[in-house]
Amino acid sequence: MAIVLLIGPGAIGATLAAWLCQDDRHRVTVAARTPIDSIVTMTPSGVIHARPQVITDPARAQHVDWMLVTTKAYDSESAAAWFPKATGPHTRLAVIQNGVEHVQRFEKHFPRERIVPVMIDLPAERNAPGRTVQKGPAHLVVPAGKDGAAFHALFAHANFDVKQTDDFTTAVWNKLCLNSAGAPCAVLLKPNGIAHHDGVARLMRDIVRECVTVGRAEGAALADSMPDEIVERIRRSPRDSGNSIYADRLAGRPMEYDARNGVIVRLGRKHGIAAPMNALMVALLEAAQND
Ligand SMILES: NC(=O)c1ccc[n+]([C@@H]2O[C@H](COP(=O)([O-])OP(=O)(O)OC[C@H]3O[C@@H](n4cnc5c(N)ncnc54)[C@H](OP(=O)(O)O)[C@@H]3O)[C@@H](O)[C@H]2O)c1
Repeated sequence: MAIVLLIGPGAIGATLAAWLCQDDRHRVTVAARTPIDSIVTMTPSGVIHARPQVITDPARAQHVDWMLVTTKAYDSESAAAWFPKATGPHTRLAVIQNGVEHVQRFEKHFPRERIVPVMIDLPAERNAPGRTVQKGPAHLVVPAGKDGAAFHALFAHANFDVKQTDDFTTAVWNKLCLNSAGAPCAVLLKPNGIAHHDGVARLMRDIVRECVTVGRAEGAALADSMPDEIVERIRRSPRDSGNSIYADRLAGRPMEYDARNGVIVRLGRKHGIAAPMNALMVALLEAAQND
């Protein structure tokens, strides 16, 4: 049994909250910015209804065993407003976001040794507040150890593939390689089919090559074949399918370009590695967002 505060009930958060509520030994509270009355999630194995307690005021939070942060990376600072009231001496913080800076985003707000970074691969969409669609299976990766195992146990009842790894750095940089390649779709406002254009495919490969070089400098074990593999993977996907940064730009929402491309430029600079194609993507997406 665990007492859980899930912060950020969007596509990923509401889906995870719905699954957590299926184990009635857990006590789940959802910390929302936009109020929701209940959660309805369509999953590959059927529709899940859940009615967790929902709070919208950080002053109402109480000590929990686990906080799960599922906001977009750029909302991390505001998510931390929930921590003071919810944190007890043994509370653990699971950061379930894209990018490679799960710990760095929160270490100034929460004890580093109790932060559990989580790589999530789970295609989910939000159609309305508290209404989500889980479009495929859930794969999660956590660092091996007792905290990773305890996180896994939260979802033991769900049909999730949760892996513990001794090399979390490689796991998140692998995912970043794929995510970084999504930027041209958002810049061009074109779905994945645009990867069949040779010039765009070359650009995607260059973006991923920069990601591989910086990731290796950060300690990730990334294959030389990654740029080609990722372009082939994008080309194999339905031509009208899109990645989430493309979907965010299409819907006029803020984009996670810093967590997906800016980080490659920033960490590259630290190692003296230039990442001009990622810098270009950041400049264009930042300009598009602020226009
Ligand atoms: N969706 C996917 O398929 C997918 C797959 C893998 C990884 N990811 C990653 O998972 C993370 C979450 O993505 P998402 O797609 O679930 O995003 P999302 O649908 O935009 O959901 C984010 C949620 O956080 C809420 N929020 C923001 N600030 C908050 C605060 N201070 N307190 C409480 N709630 C707050 C938002 O509130 P509002 O309701 O007011 O907007 C929204 O409900 C991202 O890092 C994303 O890259 C997503």
